[in-house]
Amino acid sequence: MQGLVVLLVCLAVGTAFAGTVGVSNADPFEREGRIVGGVDTTIRAHPYQVSLQTKSGSHFCGGSLINEDTVVTAAHCLVGRKISKVFVRLGSTLYNEGGVVVAVRELAYNEDYSSKTMEYDVGILKLAEKVQETEDIRYIELATETPPTGTTAVVTGWGSKCYFWCMTLPKTLQEVSVDIVDWKTCASDEYKYGEIIYDSMVCAYEKNKDACQGDSGGPLAVGNTLVGIVSWGYACASHLLPGVYSDVAVLRKWILNATETL
Ligand code: ARG
Repeated sequence: MQGLVVLLVCLAVGTAFAGTVGVSNADPFEREGRIVGGVDTTIRAHPYQVSLQTKSGSHFCGGSLINEDTVVTAAHCLVGRKISKVFVRLGSTLYNEGGVVVAVRELAYNEDYSSKTMEYDVGILKLAEKVQETEDIRYIELATETPPTGTTAVVTGWGSKCYFWCMTLPKTLQEVSVDIVDWKTCASDEYKYGEIIYDSMVCAYEKNKDACQGDSGGPLAVGNTLVGIVSWGYACASHLLPGVYSDVAVLRKWILNATETL
C-alpha cells in the first residue's frame, strides 16, 4: 500500500516533469517549482547541487557531485532510464540555463533498492567528462555518521513548491532548513509513519517546510557534508509527516564502492 502511494507520487513526478521546459500556466497538473516553504538561493551557496535532465532539458531529479566525475542521486531517479538519455547540469542556479551540461557514461543503483519499501534508494552516475571545481561547482563529502535528531540540515532543489495545484514556475534553486529526525524516532508515535521507516532512511522535519516532487535525488546537507538523499514522503510539508531521505552514512560503503568500480 505504502509502496503504491510512493510509486504513484513518483510516477506522477516523472510524468509531470517530462517536457516541463517552456510549459505554460494553462495546465494545473504541469507542476514545476520549488521546495515547499523555501527561499531562492544560488548555486554558489550549494555548489554540489546538480540537476538531472533529459536531452530536451526537462529537469527530473536532483543530485550531488562527490568528485570530478561522480554524482550521487536516488535509485528511483534512475530506474528505467537509459544512460544516453540522462544529462547533468552543474554550476547553475537556474536548472534550464547556464553552467555546464555533461553526458553520462555509466549509471548504477543499489541492488537492494525496493520500490515497495523505498529502502536503499541510492544510485550514482559517472559523468562522461571530468569536471573541475570552480566557485560554482564543488564536491561534497559523504557523511560517516548519521547526525543526531535535532541537527539542522539544508535541503535544496528545483522541485515542486507545494503538493497540490502548484502553478508557479521558478527556475531558481530553492533551499530550506529542516531538522534531522533519526529513523527510530521517525518510526515512533511522535510522527505518523509508523513501521514503514527503515534503518537505511533518515527523516527531516520542520513545520510547513519540506522537499517535494522533483527534489528527489538531491542533497540534504550539513555544511559541506551530504547526510541524506531526497527519497520520499506522504504529500509534502504535511503535519507530522517528515521528508524521508536515504541515509548517506548507512549507504556510504555502497556509494564508495560503486564510485570506484564503475
Ligand atoms: N519521490 C519524490 C520525487 O521523486 C520526492 C518526494 C520528497 N517528498 C517529501 N515530502 N519530502 O521527486
